Amino acid sequence: MPTAFITGVSGQDGSYLAELLLAKGYEVHGLLRRASSFNTQRLEPIYKDPHESGVRFFMHYGDLSDSGSLVNLIRDLQPDEIYNLGAQSHVKVSFDVPEYTADATGMGTIRILEALRASGTASRFYQASSSEMFGSSPPPQNESTPFHPRSPYGVAKMFAYWTTVNYREAYGMFASNGILMNHESPRRGETFVSRKITRAVARIKAGIQDRLYLGNLDARRDWGYAPEYVGAMWMMLQQEQPDDFVIATGQSHSVKEFAELAFDHAGLDWERHTLVDPRYYRPSEVDYLLGDASKAKEVLGWEPETSFEDLVRLMVDADVKLLDDELAGRLVRLDRDH
Ligand code: NAP
Ligand code: GDD
Repeated sequence: MPTAFITGVSGQDGSYLAELLLAKGYEVHGLLRRASSFNTQRLEPIYKDPHESGVRFFMHYGDLSDSGSLVNLIRDLQPDEIYNLGAQSHVKVSFDVPEYTADATGMGTIRILEALRASGTASRFYQASSSEMFGSSPPPQNESTPFHPRSPYGVAKMFAYWTTVNYREAYGMFASNGILMNHESPRRGETFVSRKITRAVARIKAGIQDRLYLGNLDARRDWGYAPEYVGAMWMMLQQEQPDDFVIATGQSHSVKEFAELAFDHAGLDWERHTLVDPRYYRPSEVDYLLGDASKAKEVLGWEPETSFEDLVRLMVDADVKLLDDELAGRLVRLDRDH
């Protein structure tokens, strides 16, 4: 039975990837950081009591800022594959906590690769690189596009990207970068713009919120569907040679278009409910992402399936249902955003 170790297992992508690997027959181990409240909600579909028989999913406390935990885990688990998805992944927040972002998102990658080297295990390594590294480079962006990051997060991801390339070249490690454009789902964190919009649409429709405050409506993103993107991660580690791949839909839309479509799907007029609040502007912005994933199609055989329109609709539908369930259980949470 192949074994995989996932950092960031409690996040959007980590939870989908764990499900995918379990379905493929893997034993899956996830790194879980300590939090004062539950941070494992996305793992509920796959969690089983470790005392039950036949359990193949395990969580281990550790942190990307703590080398010792990574060294011990990788030495003990000797995984066949390591997926480094853990990160301080919010771009706007990275301007508020740049040093921490550099540490977790950038240095965390070196810590894992060093832990891997020290263990003597020949694990295959996947690094969750990001289209945020392209920053102000004009579209379309592919594997040859120069990086020009526009945030501390983008700079940290670029450090991690080149660290991965360097360990591949210096030590012959099987280490690959997936340079993923934005990908969303009903499990997306509530403070990323897609989920912030679809969650607000559900609340406005239910009459418990009236306004949605957004920042830059003109930014354009290449938005795909997260469960399809974790499939590309796995494919990268099944190749004969390690390599770097852009994963994207090849379609780009503005934040305004996302909002318009989401409100429209719920029978609401986006302009009546949406206001711009400069608080959500970033000190420097990534204006236009549009990926060219032709290398992934040719080498991996990977292609996106869910259209932008279907993605927006499925996220609105999921948030409407979630809110119905919460209202039924009287579990409406306080609004939090960034
Ligand atoms: P996410 O939902 O924000 O999940 C991030 C994960 O990292 C969570 O499990 C989080 O734990 C964990 N984490 C944060 N700091 C940590 C630390 N110091 N030590 C250990 N774990 C830590 O992100 P995502 O959307 O799934 O993205 C997965 C990865 O792909 C990230 O590296 C992200 O930067 C990158 N990426 C994402 C996209 C996208 O559009 N989604 C595109 C390109 C690249 P908690 O649950 O405890 O917070
Ligand atoms: N979060 C947020 N909140 N973004 C807003 C808002 C708002 O109220 N209003 C407008 N935006 C704009 C942002 O300025 C940005 O241009 C765009 O919406 C998308 O923002 P996010 O959804 O926060 O995503 P991101 O593109 O900054 O970063 C995501 O994608 C990267 C890949 O390109 C994250 O998932 C990163 O971790 C990932 O690497």
